[in-house]
Amino acid sequence: MGYRGFCLYLVLLALSLEPQNLKSEELTCNPNDLRALAGFSNCLESAIAGWNGTITPDCCTWTGITCDNSTVSGRRVVGLEIGSKRLTGKICESLAGLNQLRVLNLSHNFIWGTLPAELFRLQNIEIIDLSNNDFLGSINNKGMCTISTRIQVLNFSNNHFSGQVPKDLANCTFLNHLSFDGNSLSGSLPETLFQLKYLSELNLQGNSISGALSNGIGNLSNLVKLDISSNLFSGVLPDIFGSLARLEHFSAMSNSFTGLLPNSLVNSPSLQMLNLNNNSLSSTININCYSMKNLLSLDLGSNLFHGPIPNSLSSCRRLKTLNLAHNNLSGKLPNNYRNLKSLTHLSLSNTSLNNILSALRILQYCRNLSMLVLTMNFHDEQMPNDENLHFKNLNSLILANCKLRGSIPQWLSSCHKLQLLDLSWNHLGGSVPSWFGNFESLFYLDLSNNSLEGEIPKSLTELQSLISENITIDEPVSSFQLRTARQGGPILSYRQISSFRPTLDLSYNNLQGPIWPDFWNLKRLHVLNLKENNLSGPIPNNLSGMTGLEKLDLSHNKLSGEIPRSLVNLSFVSTFDVSYNHLCGEIPEGGQFDTFPSASFEGNNGLCRAEYCICQSDQTPIHSPREKKRIIIGLPFEIGAATGFVLTVIYCFMSRLSFP
Ligand SMILES: *[C@@H]1O[C@H](CO)[C@@H](O)[C@H](O)[C@H]1NC(C)=O
Ligand SMILES: *[C@@H]1O[C@H](CO)[C@@H](O)[C@H](O)[C@H]1NC(C)=O
Ligand SMILES: *[C@@H]1O[C@H](CO)[C@@H](O)[C@H](O)[C@H]1NC(C)=O
Ligand SMILES: *[C@@H]1O[C@H](CO)[C@@H](O)[C@H](O)[C@H]1NC(C)=O
Ligand SMILES: *[C@@H]1O[C@H](CO)[C@@H](O)[C@H](O)[C@H]1NC(C)=O
Ligand SMILES: *[C@@H]1O[C@H](CO)[C@@H](O)[C@H](O)[C@H]1NC(C)=O
Ligand SMILES: *[C@@H]1O[C@H](CO)[C@@H](O)[C@H](O)[C@H]1NC(C)=O
Ligand SMILES: *[C@@H]1O[C@H](CO)[C@@H](O)[C@H](O)[C@H]1NC(C)=O
Ligand SMILES: *[C@@H]1O[C@H](CO)[C@@H](O)[C@H](O)[C@H]1NC(C)=O
Ligand SMILES: *[C@@H]1O[C@H](CO)[C@@H](O)[C@H](O)[C@H]1NC(C)=O
Ligand SMILES: *[C@@H]1O[C@H](CO)[C@@H](O)[C@H](O)[C@H]1NC(C)=O
Ligand SMILES: *[C@@H]1O[C@H](CO)[C@@H](O)[C@H](O)[C@H]1NC(C)=O
Repeated sequence: MGYRGFCLYLVLLALSLEPQNLKSEELTCNPNDLRALAGFSNCLESAIAGWNGTITPDCCTWTGITCDNSTVSGRRVVGLEIGSKRLTGKICESLAGLNQLRVLNLSHNFIWGTLPAELFRLQNIEIIDLSNNDFLGSINNKGMCTISTRIQVLNFSNNHFSGQVPKDLANCTFLNHLSFDGNSLSGSLPETLFQLKYLSELNLQGNSISGALSNGIGNLSNLVKLDISSNLFSGVLPDIFGSLARLEHFSAMSNSFTGLLPNSLVNSPSLQMLNLNNNSLSSTININCYSMKNLLSLDLGSNLFHGPIPNSLSSCRRLKTLNLAHNNLSGKLPNNYRNLKSLTHLSLSNTSLNNILSALRILQYCRNLSMLVLTMNFHDEQMPNDENLHFKNLNSLILANCKLRGSIPQWLSSCHKLQLLDLSWNHLGGSVPSWFGNFESLFYLDLSNNSLEGEIPKSLTELQSLISENITIDEPVSSFQLRTARQGGPILSYRQISSFRPTLDLSYNNLQGPIWPDFWNLKRLHVLNLKENNLSGPIPNNLSGMTGLEKLDLSHNKLSGEIPRSLVNLSFVSTFDVSYNHLCGEIPEGGQFDTFPSASFEGNNGLCRAEYCICQSDQTPIHSPREKKRIIIGLPFEIGAATGFVLTVIYCFMSRLSFP
């Protein structure tokens, strides 16, 4: 019996059940509720596992259904919780038949369509979670709080709802959680929203809500969490935070707020997390740590703040995460930052900071520091080589694009926990120290665009976390938005460090010598970039052991010999470049090689796609004398390939003629 048949069966069953037939000791679900569930199931396109009237007609035993113990006319359905069941299809009016329903949870499915107004005829409903589905259309004008006045939790996150935030929410007096984040809501916030005096959590992030944040928000005196980030809010922040005495978490990043930090905000004793990243706030940073005793995380990055790096922040003793990057600040790191003993994540990129030696000497007293981002500062300074520097807990150091001179310092070798090191876009010389191989957790190393010389240390082929270890990294306590690591470079977001791909990037240096065959050990490496060096010798045959590789760039070196056929087995490689080397012979065919563009091979002595094209000992290609027609000597690759193709077609054509 298909599920539609099943649904019909349910309806018939429901109609045949009469309450008086039921003995009180074997109460089953109320027939009206059974009928409503059958109708509900009918509108969905997929059957719900665990809902089978043949096995048991008592819907109270079905997956996700909760009933009360009512004895009058069968047990009433009070909970319908069928999240993460891969359900598709729509929900329909019959749901309104479940008039005792208190909890409706359909989250994490693929349910679509507009909201039926009947949903809000459920007068006992308290919790509605429709998050992570494909609902669309307006939420407005459904009369949502006219009958369903007992709603406490409304979670519509991550759907495709559009239109305005509904005005009629105000009659849902008991609402305490409201989540509309991750939709396409627009317009301004209705003032009626601010009548919800029990509201403790309001999530509106990731919509297109515009206008000012009105003073009315100050009426939401029970708010604990307010997130309006990634919207189109503008104007100044209202000075009402004194009324929000329970507010712990306020995030308004990526809007267009202007003006000063309101006085009540920078004095909030309850706030633990404040994120105003990527707005146009200006003036000086006037956080009052003596009032903000609970502040754990402060992100004021990417604004228009000016003045020196604020001295006073050092009194926020509980601060774990601090981001002031990309502001027009200046000067030295204040000496008293050494008192920030709880600090774990710090970014001061592009803040015109100078004196790197002094900054590092101060920060080493922040013993719990695990991530330090100082990109785009200290222009033309010397990389300090003070052997007394110790960063025992540092797992990420990002010091790119500072034009630092000198060499890779010895003190780094004592950062045993290092997982991520980015020293790219500096002017560092000398060699890559062999002690890099001792970093047991290092999985992301970017030394690109320096002046490093000598061989690639063989020890890099022994990096444990690229061989076997699982990669885990401490994430900041809250969002830690760090934009472009380096001007003009790729946009790197260090927001989710663990999402970084395991990488060795030594490109744009002066490295010499071979590519070690032992690189095959690095099974967990995703990106190997050795572009623009002076590497020579062959491409080792067993690089095919780097089974996790997605990008391999060996271009602009002096590599010779053939491209090993075994590389065809690198099944995840989507970017491959060996152009501008001294390679010769046949380009392997099959696997991912059939997808690489010819630009990946150009600028070599004699690479070709035809058969019988082999490397001579003197590195120039020779061709089988029997196959004169397919000889391709010293032609630029594209022409060679094209010629090869044409000749192959001719050859095939002719062979068909001779073997009809
Ligand atoms: C219900 O259960 C019966 C007996 O196990 C089975 O034959 C039938 O296919 C099931 N129906 C659905 C819709 O799962
Ligand atoms: C119904 O009764 C059972 C047993 O007495 C009890 O465990 C259960 O919590 C009750 N359910 C409700 C919804 O009241
Ligand atoms: C709804 O169910 C999901 C699991 O599918 C759960 O994570 C979520 O907390 C539930 N929602 C509510 C409001 O309890
Ligand atoms: C929806 O929001 C409510 C209230 O914040 C929460 O309890 C529930 O877990 C959320 N649902 C999911 C799927 O996260
Ligand atoms: C609240 O409900 C009353 C009547 O039930 C209605 O007149 C009023 O307009 C509603 N308020 C809002 C803000 O929807
Ligand atoms: C906020 O509360 C004040 C005083 O209770 C009231 O006068 C005002 O109308 C309220 N504002 C909003 C937007 O609800
Ligand atoms: C910064 O905010 C603007 C909107 O104000 C948005 O378009 C942009 O994507 C945000 N940038 C980042 C890096 O989040
Ligand atoms: C940065 O601040 C200085 C004064 O401290 C000012 O002269 C300069 O114009 C500002 N730069 C920007 C880009 O706002
Ligand atoms: C660096 O900061 C200056 C001054 O605040 C700003 O003009 C510039 O756009 C910033 N650069 C980047 C890449 O963020
Ligand atoms: C430093 O980190 C350790 C381990 O996580 C923690 O127990 C300790 O309290 C932290 N110190 C400070 C001052 O926060
Ligand atoms: C190398 O770094 C400099 C800045 O130091 C930058 O101007 C240049 O574009 C970078 N080159 C590459 C290829 O990334
Ligand atoms: C690595 O992860 C896999 C699966 O994610 C797990 O089975 C294995 O035990 C982990 N190994 C270590 C050393 O943590």
